[in-house]
Amino acid sequence: ERVVLAYSGGLDTSVAIGWIGAETGAEVVALAVDVGQGGEDLEAIRQRALTCGAVESIVVDARTEFAESFVAPAIRANALYMDRYPLISSLSRPIIVKHLVEAARQHGADAIAHGCTGKGNDQVRFEVGVSALAPGLKVLAPVRDSGMTRDKAIAFAEERGLPIDVSKRSPYSIDQNLWGRTAECGILEDPWAQPPEDVFVYSADPTVARTPDEVTVSFTDGIPTALDGRPLGLADLVAELNTRAGAHGIGRIDMIEDRLVGIKSREIYECPAAITLLTAHRDLEDLTLERDVARFKRGIDQRWGEIVYDGLWFSPLKLALDAFVDAASVGVSGDVRLRLAGGVAQVVGRRSPASLYDHALATYDAGDQFDQSDARGFIELWGLPTKVWAAREQRLNP
Ligand code: ARG
Ligand code: SIN
Repeated sequence: ERVVLAYSGGLDTSVAIGWIGAETGAEVVALAVDVGQGGEDLEAIRQRALTCGAVESIVVDARTEFAESFVAPAIRANALYMDRYPLISSLSRPIIVKHLVEAARQHGADAIAHGCTGKGNDQVRFEVGVSALAPGLKVLAPVRDSGMTRDKAIAFAEERGLPIDVSKRSPYSIDQNLWGRTAECGILEDPWAQPPEDVFVYSADPTVARTPDEVTVSFTDGIPTALDGRPLGLADLVAELNTRAGAHGIGRIDMIEDRLVGIKSREIYECPAAITLLTAHRDLEDLTLERDVARFKRGIDQRWGEIVYDGLWFSPLKLALDAFVDAASVGVSGDVRLRLAGGVAQVVGRRSPASLYDHALATYDAGDQFDQSDARGFIELWGLPTKVWAAREQRLNP
């Protein structure tokens, strides 16, 4: 029997290697997916899995794939769960699932394993994803299903002399990738408590005054393609913008979030590039999308975000919404200029070869081509149903 474990290098998944072995007798293949989480060297993580007893340890460089196939669609869909959270972890789980399933096929495994608790969204994203891509694979969840609590994990690590420095553990539960960083637990579980500054890693304190920065983001069909006129692949573009916008404290989010499992949870996010790019993208849509497409797309965008948050990346509704979003994104091309300062990415200018802005229609100055005399008849007919209704109300309730 073989199991492919989604491996992060942290305490829980390191202990899970031996734990699964002891519980089931299965061999564990550890898989770490690089989605731009930075931090620790991935070769060190790969070695640690072997030291912890994995029969194989694999690191997949999925930065580019993550950016192009997961982050790009989220930008096109202006994806913000509850109008605020740019789906940092929600986007990474499906790509991890995809690589788990591939590794399971390659290494002849009949199960995958994850280190999620039973209280969160991630377990749903992993398991629904696996059931869509490889319905025959079993799923092991030792933290949730076989009593691998934090205390027991620490005891297990000490007993076996696993190379995990428990004292170096963060007081928070952290997940991070190219698109941002999430923090939960510890003092953050008090929704009234202000997050201590040590929670933040991707962004500087926005209240510290700095010289403002200005950046121009170029888009092609709804996808960012250049910074300040320099063409960049999306992964590099996002990484660079995390640094530049992060330096001005942009993208800090403190929110109460509705988890799929029904819990309200206090979440701290940092996503400097995500907030900057989503702000720019939305602005460019306002310039280039026809009004009714734009209005309709708001509803599609919201649903897209909810579906992805709820673990349904590989679902038929998500596919169908993608088709709409992709079609609507054709022509969302051009440049958006933003000032980065004091925690805010403020749009200060936009332009597009596909602009629908018509100066001759909009201007109040000379050159006005909008025939204002058309407005009277338009308003008459536009208001007619309301007028008829109001007259009836008068008649029935004088
Ligand atoms: N609440 C966020 C989400 O559901 C973040 C989850 C972070 N996951 C983690 N294992 N720390 O997407
Ligand atoms: C977990 O409980 O495993 C992490 C939090 C989440 O999935 O939302």
